[in-house]
This record gives sequence, C-alpha cells and structure tokens, in this order.
Amino acid sequence: MCGIVGFIGKKQAAPVLLDGLAKLEYRGYDSAGLAIRNGNELAEVVKSQGRLKILAEKTDNGNALVGTCGIGHTRWATHGEPSRTNAHPHVSGNCTGTGSGQVESEVVGVHNGIIENFTELREKLLKHGYTFYSQTDTEVVIKLVDYYYKKYTHDPQEAIAKTMVRVRGSYALCLMFKSYPGEIWVARKDSPMIIGIADGETYVASDVPAILKYSRNVYYIGNLEMAKLTEGTATFYNLDGDQIEKELTEIKWNAESAEKGGYEHFMMKEIHEQPRAVADTIHSVIKDNKIDLSSIGLEEEQIKNISQIYIVACGSAYHTGVVTQYVMEDLAKIPVRVELASEFRYRKPLLDKNGLVIVVSQSGETADTLAALRLAKDKGIKTLAIVNVVGSSIAREADNVFYTLAGPEIAVATTKAYSTQLIAGYILAMQFALVRNEIDEDKLAQLITELRTIPQKIEKILEDKERMQWFAAKQVNAQDVFFIGRGIDYAVCLEGSLKMKEISYVHSEAYAAGELKHGTISLIEDGTLVISVLTQSSLYEKTVSNMVECKSRGAYLMGLTTYGHYGIEDTADFTVYIPKTDEHFAASLSVVPLQLMGYYLSVSRGLDVDKPRNLAKSVTVE
Ligand code: F6R
Repeated sequence: MCGIVGFIGKKQAAPVLLDGLAKLEYRGYDSAGLAIRNGNELAEVVKSQGRLKILAEKTDNGNALVGTCGIGHTRWATHGEPSRTNAHPHVSGNCTGTGSGQVESEVVGVHNGIIENFTELREKLLKHGYTFYSQTDTEVVIKLVDYYYKKYTHDPQEAIAKTMVRVRGSYALCLMFKSYPGEIWVARKDSPMIIGIADGETYVASDVPAILKYSRNVYYIGNLEMAKLTEGTATFYNLDGDQIEKELTEIKWNAESAEKGGYEHFMMKEIHEQPRAVADTIHSVIKDNKIDLSSIGLEEEQIKNISQIYIVACGSAYHTGVVTQYVMEDLAKIPVRVELASEFRYRKPLLDKNGLVIVVSQSGETADTLAALRLAKDKGIKTLAIVNVVGSSIAREADNVFYTLAGPEIAVATTKAYSTQLIAGYILAMQFALVRNEIDEDKLAQLITELRTIPQKIEKILEDKERMQWFAAKQVNAQDVFFIGRGIDYAVCLEGSLKMKEISYVHSEAYAAGELKHGTISLIEDGTLVISVLTQSSLYEKTVSNMVECKSRGAYLMGLTTYGHYGIEDTADFTVYIPKTDEHFAASLSVVPLQLMGYYLSVSRGLDVDKPRNLAKSVTVE
C-alpha cells in the first residue's frame, strides 16, 4: 500500500524523506515522489515511476532539493495506472508534463486511502474551473481543499475540515500550503498515520519504521482529526476546529529490528526471529505458571458467559484463526466460527449477543478486518483484537487487545506475526478452558510447560533448514503443488500453500485430505508434488491413506510429521521431521519447514522474496 513521510525541522528534508520512504518499501509501491520547500520559496516537486532508487538518482539522493520542510510518498495504484503523472505529490493548480517542477499552486499534497465519491467531487470541481491532470482520487481531494481554502477564510484548518466532511472513504492526507511556509497539515480517517517529535523536528509517517531512526516519541492522530505540524510541535484539531490535547507515546521497538541484520532477506530474518517473538508473546501473559489476562482486560465472568466465538481475519491471520478454532473447541468446548473479514462484513451475520468477536491482524489496519470489527461493535457484541502494531486502528477500536510481540514485520509474507498469533490463540483457549472448568490447574500447568518449549523446538527446526533448501531447489520447476492434511494439519496446509504461491508464484492449493477425492484428485499427474502434514496421531493413518491415493496417481510425496513416525518413509518420497509437542501446538512447528519451503523456492526462482509482485504488506483498502 502507499507510504507517506513528511518532515519539518532544521536539517534538509529530502534525504530524510527518501530514507523514510525506503523503510516503507516493503508495503509495496509502483511510483514515488517528493515535494520540498525552502522557506518562503515555492515547493519543488519531483516524481518517478518504479523503484525508489530512481527517485534517489534523479535527486542526487535528495541533495539536489534544498529545503527543510517536505512531504514524500510511495504510491500503490488504485485509481489510475502506475505512472509518473499519477504519482504523488499532486497539486491544486495547473501543472505541466508529468507534474514535476516548481509549484505555483496553493496546495500540494500526498494521500493514502481511497476517496469513494471522487467522481462526484471531480464533476463539481470541473464546474468550478479546475483542470485534472491525473486519473487519481488524490488530485480531486487536493483540489477540493484548495476550493474550500479559496471559498472561505484562506485558513488551512477550515479548508481541511470542510473537505473532510465532504469526502467519503479513507485517507491519510499530508499537505503544504503556499501561503503557510514552515507548516505541514495532516488529516486522517481510517488510514494509518503517526507523528513523531524530536528536538525542534517533526516527522509524519504512515508507518512506524519510516521514522523510528529519528524519533520514538509519537502522537497517534485519531479518526477525523487534523494537525498542524511545525518545527518540533504538533497541534491537533477536531472537525469543529477545537484544539485537542494529546499525550506522546513512546515506541519500544528499536531501529535495528526494522533492519535486515545480516540476513539476505527480511523474510529469513523474521523466520529466525520466531523463537524470540513466540517466547516474548508467551512471557507477556504467562507468569509463575499462570495465565494473566489482566493486561487484556478479559474478566472471568465475561469468559464464563461467552456463548460463541467468531474469529474474523484475512489471509494468514485468518489461517491462524482456523488453528485456534480447533484448539479452542477441543480445550474450552466453546463453539467457534472462523470467517474471512471480507465476507463477514457483507453477509449480514447473525451474531449471538453473548458471543465474542476475535479479530486477528498483524498490521491492525486491514480495511476488511477493521470493518468487521466495527460491524461487531455496532451490533453490541464484545470484541477482542489480536494485534501486532501498537496504536493501530484495530488496536484502538477493539474493546480488548491481546498484543502479539512479534516486533516490526517488514517482509510482505508474514512469518513471525503468524507464529505469535497462534500463541495468542492457544493462550486464550487454555485460559478459557480453565475458567470454564474444562481443564484443571494441573492440565493447565502441563500445557504451559509444553508451550514454553515451543521456541527452542522452532530453533531446532531452523538448525536443519538446509534440508528444506536442498528440497526446494529440486522443485524449482514445479507447476502445481498440493498441500493436504486433516484438522490442525489442514489449517497449517492453508498457510504453507499461501506462503508458496505468494512469494514463489507457483500455483498451489491446500486441501483437507479427505476432500481431495471429491474432485481435486483429478489434477494429480505424474510428478505432481503433494505435501502432506501429519502431526495429529488420531488422523495419521487416514492421511497416509490419502497420500497413497495420490501416489498411485503419480504424485511425488513429501511427508511432514513428528519424530517417531518413521513408517512415513514407506509412503513418502521425501520426509521432514519436527519435534514432538502437545498436538494442540503442532502448527507452531509444522509451519516452519513450510515457510522455509516457500522462501527457498522463491530464492531458487530468482524472485524478490520480500516484495512479491502485486502484493502489499498492509491492505488498507478493500
Ligand atoms: C500473507 C500475509 C497476508 C496477511 C493479511 C492480513 O503472508 O501476510 O495474508 O496475513 O493481509 O494482514 P493483517 O494481519 O495485517 O491484517
């Protein structure tokens, strides 16, 4: 998704903006641009299509643009093709060519999000004599600000407030006004934005890594709020123009955790960070062999009264929900439905008033998940969010929050956030089971002891990662891959298959092993790779039978099971063993070789592991 960085202070702005935008590259983008202002002089805009390094080359790493105030943007096309003309910043007045050069216009700005009623607003502005140069909704919103600015009192705050009332959709807006040098104006609704303050300097960004190097003291700008940024200050306003007081929050992530740290790719670094991320998440709520959910705010009485759980999420976060469903139903005996947020929000769900809606999200900004959360809240259902990014929209709006402690996740394909979401799901299931007398203290202690061993077991799997590297290299020409498993193993197959297709572009499907013969098995041909996951002892024999069915149709079989199940070698052509654990927690181990498989296949095929095509890290539009 698009990225925003803005800076105002004593040092030169352009290098700071380029550096910040580079930190947001992982979000995915197709073009980039900067607008820099030197005191009272007009702003200078430079835009380019493609990688950020083209913009850096064009501006001599920012040195060619003089000025201590500026805004920058990386665009991920929604309205209008990826091009230099459609790249941000956009301006309120007339422009030539692709929109680079000195800006005579009153307003210049960048925008993340989607303006839903942009066609109607464009018509209105055309009638008022505005000309449009790009196909973007952003140009419409910038010109609308200009329209209200000129129509009323030439006051940025009033012009922005009027625009906010008039537009529908989501936005993080970052603007400079020609008549107000030394100021940046920002506004937001449903699109993330933070403001960082350092000594005499102010930063604004759509995501924390962009400014972490410069400031850890941030303000969260709320929905339908705006702010005036000057050197070292931020003044916040609501739609009525009243000033709002805000507290600075300290970000605990350190800058190194947003760097590659010697690994070739962020994804591999993050795979290796899983033992730490999982251990931190466990330790955040398990103390003295007891689960303490007080930081989350879930009361025992509330837990006892839950009639039904709805887990709602997208992509990999949804996959962790599928695992949690099996664990929660088995341990706590609470019925669970797992739903894709994009479906849930539009299917008019009938929700039990004593139900609990659990939304799961790494970014805390996924548009569909946020909408699902709001829908549940509107219906008066209690909500709990499992979120990684502190202060994100989902974290702020949910009734209760279980923070996963994965730290910043940069690679587009999630790994460590997925693993910590699993842990959050297990812990909720264990505590709910205890409170509802489905398990006793001894059983809980036993589960906790086992849970604490997961980090070192993940380490052990990672020690043997070259085996997956070797196997993945052999599969470099694979066309179609099938993942099969039952129960929790099926849930892990969903994730293994997604990891493979999203970064290696190899078509793959995950099937509940028993479902294969209802159609899909006709796709199995000589040499088709079928990866089977078998960690659930009661389902082991059943899945072996399904493997045999595939083999007899020519499939090449990989079996992923726990140490001790050596009989698998009679059926599988290639076997991977993982350490034994309580079977409820098996997904935390079996997913690791599958993450490695996706990673190494992508590397073998020479692809951009961290930034796969067409994908964005945080999907803030529906
Ligand atoms: C896949 C992946 C995505 C995300 C999904 C939800 O590797 O990362 O499928 O899981 O886009 O994102 P969050 O968790 O930020 O809501």
